[in-house]
Amino acid sequence: MPPLWVPERLSPLVGYGKQAGQFTTWGVGGKPLCLLTPGDSHDIGFSLRWLTEEGISFDVLGGGSNVLIGDGDLPLVLLHMRALSGMDVSVDGQDVFIECGAGTDLRSVLSAALKSGWAGLEFAAGIPGTVGGAIFGNAGTRDGDMRGVLHEAETVEDDGSLARWCASDIEWGYRRCGLAEGRRRILSSVKLRLSVSSKESVRKAVEKSVSSRNGQPRGVKTAGCVFKNPPGDSAGRLLDLCGCKLFSVGGARVSSAHANFIENHGDCTAEDIISLAQMCRKSVYEVYGAMLEYEIKFIGIPRERLSVF
Ligand code: EPU
Repeated sequence: MPPLWVPERLSPLVGYGKQAGQFTTWGVGGKPLCLLTPGDSHDIGFSLRWLTEEGISFDVLGGGSNVLIGDGDLPLVLLHMRALSGMDVSVDGQDVFIECGAGTDLRSVLSAALKSGWAGLEFAAGIPGTVGGAIFGNAGTRDGDMRGVLHEAETVEDDGSLARWCASDIEWGYRRCGLAEGRRRILSSVKLRLSVSSKESVRKAVEKSVSSRNGQPRGVKTAGCVFKNPPGDSAGRLLDLCGCKLFSVGGARVSSAHANFIENHGDCTAEDIISLAQMCRKSVYEVYGAMLEYEIKFIGIPRERLSVF
């Protein structure tokens, strides 16, 4: 297949022949038509207008830590947010505002907060990925989520226009952010609000947060929790009770440390992971009547592949 033609305006941003798996924590994912790496919201706007006018499918990749990307040749363009990084900090009384590109690594924001003694983001210790991905999935733990620290967001809408949102304009839920729903838009930058505190108390809260992850797998390729917790329960507990820790398909294995994690043990494909996840989901449904919802996002995987029956 000849490479996809892109307008001259986008040619400095384009990459051909890249395997998406090199950008995901599972290390899995095939080859998109091309990879576009926008440097700012104007690049995103131009890309979106072009993709929409040409009817080309596209998807957005942040830190690649919560996503399963299909195998083989993918009939879509992947917009990679990694170049939209950088932080700008302003302090107003007790409030600390951190404005950052959506592609900024969440860990670098936490590290700045830890060094300066700014409170609010401690729950995020150990959460990989970009700020944009964390906001779109309302990433969090029992101690907090991104809703609690977002002040404002800037998005590029599907017609290329810019929109600004206050956190209170957005509908939120458990691992849910209204910006990711309905109209197709891309988060370009966010302003987080933390508060002035002491280095010592932020450090203690970060340590507590890190220790709450003690039972999770380390040193293996995973994408965090695969399923959302059902109301009032833990997906990991239900999967464990169903014996899923013994399940594996190809190079994909349910973690023996925590049943809501799937590990890549070598030549694992997206197909292995999806077959294994569906097998786990079916088991919990058959035993407990609860259909677990996916927390991970899917790119280049047909919807039908996600139905259990
Ligand atoms: N459990 C088992 N077996 C397992 C896993 C868990 O019996 O294999 C039990 C635990 O013993 C505990 C209960 O289930 O009694 C809850 O487990 P855990 O404390 O590990 O918390 P979780 O609900 O499974 C959530 C988040 C994690 C976050 C932790 C710690 C979700 C889906 N998961 O896990 O977030 O790190 O709390 O705050 O909300 C993620 O979202 O990717 C993620 C890892």
